[in-house]
Amino acid sequence: MSAPTQTFDLVIAANRLPVDRVVGPDGDVSWRTSPGGLVTAMESVMRSREGAWVGWAGESGDAPEPFVQSDMYLRPVAMSEEDVAHYYEGCSNGTLWPIYHDVIVPATFHRFWFTAYERVNRRFAEAICEVAAEGATVWVHDYQLQLVPAMVRELRPDVRIGWFNHIPFPPVELFAQLPWRRALLEGLLGADYLGFQRVADAQNFVRACRQLLGLPTKGDTISVSRGANARRVRASAVPISIDFVGLQELARMPETQARAKEIRESLGNPDTLLLGIDRLDYTKGIGHRIKAYGELLEEGKVAPPREIFVQVATPSRERVAAYRDLRQEIEGEVGRLNGDHSVIGSAAVQYLHHAYPRDEMAALYLAADVLLVTPLRDGMNLVAKEYVTCRHDEGGALVLSEFTGAFHELHQAFVCNPHDIEGLKQTIMRAIETPDKDKRRLMRAMRRRVADHDVQRWAHRFLENLSHAPERPGTSKAQHEDRP
Ligand code: F6P
Repeated sequence: MSAPTQTFDLVIAANRLPVDRVVGPDGDVSWRTSPGGLVTAMESVMRSREGAWVGWAGESGDAPEPFVQSDMYLRPVAMSEEDVAHYYEGCSNGTLWPIYHDVIVPATFHRFWFTAYERVNRRFAEAICEVAAEGATVWVHDYQLQLVPAMVRELRPDVRIGWFNHIPFPPVELFAQLPWRRALLEGLLGADYLGFQRVADAQNFVRACRQLLGLPTKGDTISVSRGANARRVRASAVPISIDFVGLQELARMPETQARAKEIRESLGNPDTLLLGIDRLDYTKGIGHRIKAYGELLEEGKVAPPREIFVQVATPSRERVAAYRDLRQEIEGEVGRLNGDHSVIGSAAVQYLHHAYPRDEMAALYLAADVLLVTPLRDGMNLVAKEYVTCRHDEGGALVLSEFTGAFHELHQAFVCNPHDIEGLKQTIMRAIETPDKDKRRLMRAMRRRVADHDVQRWAHRFLENLSHAPERPGTSKAQHEDRP
């Protein structure tokens, strides 16, 4: 007889588990905690209560047995080759991702993709219910799992359910294109509380419920059903952040500072080192950035070795056609610019198609005089917050697109509209030319903001909003106060 499954007061569910599989020289398999801010935030909330994390271990086939890593109980969810192709690459990243990011590339709709999405969401819901203790708090993450809240509610009416969207939530005119719009809204409305990056995202959701489901709404609250089963669901903004203390500590380490110096030296100690660090995704505006930089090179406003632009493009979703096309396009453009503008010993654009560990990223941030963050649409953009965090020297300048969530918090950035190439060029030049003492003042203010609103505060705010979510039928809790 198999041992009874352990149950937990807090259950996190995200598409991926917070671990990477490591195969040793003898073929032995172990797991390394992935260095994301989300893990740090969850570690901080799990210090006070027993927690489990439900997610995919990143490879198709049978799921590994549950295991404990960094004091977290990890419950892997299996994913077949077909699930990966239809649920993850298909529905999540070929249908929902483009619709939720302003249709920068066209969305593809396939009924069999959505069938896989439902199937995998159900598998997640069942795994959550298996490890959730009576009355547990269940926190579901992101667009891959939008049907999970209602599925969990149906199986386990005793638990409290929250969902947080890491990406934008689209305006109703775009959302309405989805053939499965009703199922998605009803799936999300299974939650007690829904968190979004921006106020506009929460409002888009509330409007979609009103216009597409005909539900009554008042402010940030949606009434789901009437009569004895009446339930209200609140949707509001709780912008995500990063582990300020942990990352700043890393950036302050002598090794990181020495590595930053070494990076600059290896690039010939340019007057200005410009940096872009992005997942290779069409939402990030890498092409617009390269176009603007290319024109500045043509006009002689920047030139190697005096100015060097380093673009790190982390490989991502490489089996999805739009991502393959993007890679080809970007690499073609970089090749052309380098052919036209590089000098012996100094490339105009250093393009690195790699993922780097956290310490190397911190060194790159410290080395860069200007960070270019130019997405066409981005839920938050944590790279912007990481840069600010690493600049304990108050050096550097941040060029930031107004189409990121971070723009709503980092008001002292050099703000750009990446579609306006002329404007983007001027903003880049301003970021290069503004006197250091003025830039230090701007950086100081942005650092204060991120230090005060770090990822731990974000997690606590989310859980507090969830615990104060409108009362359910049959409970006598007084109406909640409105928490910003
Ligand atoms: O925030 C959006 C997101 O899809 C996250 O869920 C994920 O951690 C990240 O982007 C990377 O995406 P993927 O898991 O598809 O590699």
